[in-house]
Amino acid sequence: MADRVALVTGGTRGIGGAITERLAAAGTVVAAAFTRDATAADQLRDRCQRSGGQVSLHQADVADPDACGGLVSEVLARYGRLDYLVNNAGAVSEQRYGDVATADWQRHIAVNLSAAFFLTQAALPPMVDQGFGRVVNVGSVTALMGSPVQIPYGAAKAGLIGLTRSVARAVARKGITVNCVIPGSIDTELSQALRYTDPARVTELIPAGRGGRPEEVAYAVAFLCDPQSSYITGAVLTVDGGLSMGG
Ligand SMILES: NC(=O)c1ccc[n+]([C@@H]2O[C@H](COP(=O)([O-])OP(=O)(O)OC[C@H]3O[C@@H](n4cnc5c(N)ncnc54)[C@H](OP(=O)(O)O)[C@@H]3O)[C@@H](O)[C@H]2O)c1
Repeated sequence: MADRVALVTGGTRGIGGAITERLAAAGTVVAAAFTRDATAADQLRDRCQRSGGQVSLHQADVADPDACGGLVSEVLARYGRLDYLVNNAGAVSEQRYGDVATADWQRHIAVNLSAAFFLTQAALPPMVDQGFGRVVNVGSVTALMGSPVQIPYGAAKAGLIGLTRSVARAVARKGITVNCVIPGSIDTELSQALRYTDPARVTELIPAGRGGRPEEVAYAVAFLCDPQSSYITGAVLTVDGGLSMGG
């Protein structure tokens, strides 16, 4: 995976931070995108550089379709190629169904679903030209299990599975794979800040008996990016300690 170029959205902290660290440690040049937390971004880049990794930082709000195109253009202008696109940026705020405002719905769809489409649309032409590419979408177990307090988020993440499979079909003969990794309950700021869902209650439902670590999701993403994962496309890979099996 050395000398490849990756764009990881939300690649500066949480699960995306672990993805950036893992890819950079394997010799991939990583463009890590974030929107707000420049301090976390700087810390992540410094950490990667101290261990010999090559990471650049790119600020963009992926809820804006124009910003998605701009982000891909920025990476192509800097590195001249793009091999891996990891659509990891995501956000959730919890509401009961009667409290979901129009803006809540639109923001969840924009960040968690539309962004992945517009970024992928911009990234595919150079991947097609080079005859190689990997797109990995980061979904959520909410897409499979549902949540009464994450309705727009659950809808967006379920849409991401449909997006994954449709785009996978569109580019399957061009050396490009498109897959979806589905994290369960992972220990990050996102899962710690939920309004109604208590991570301790969720842990009781997990067959593995514990929440996951960002590094465990990063391993699955790196596996799907690997050139040797060439025959895996349209796949939905849960990384959830068995949570989505129910029971
Ligand atoms: N943690 C879990 O339990 C869990 C479970 C299932 C699925 N997931 C999914 O895994 C992915 C990563 O989650 P996480 O737990 O690592 O979240 P996190 O710790 O909150 O980190 C989110 C990252 O996404 C970026 N981001 C958020 N909104 C953005 C926007 N509008 N434009 C650009 N970047 C944006 C953030 O940038 P800033 O740092 O600048 O804010 C940050 O880098 C998400 O797609 C999430 O839905 C997480």
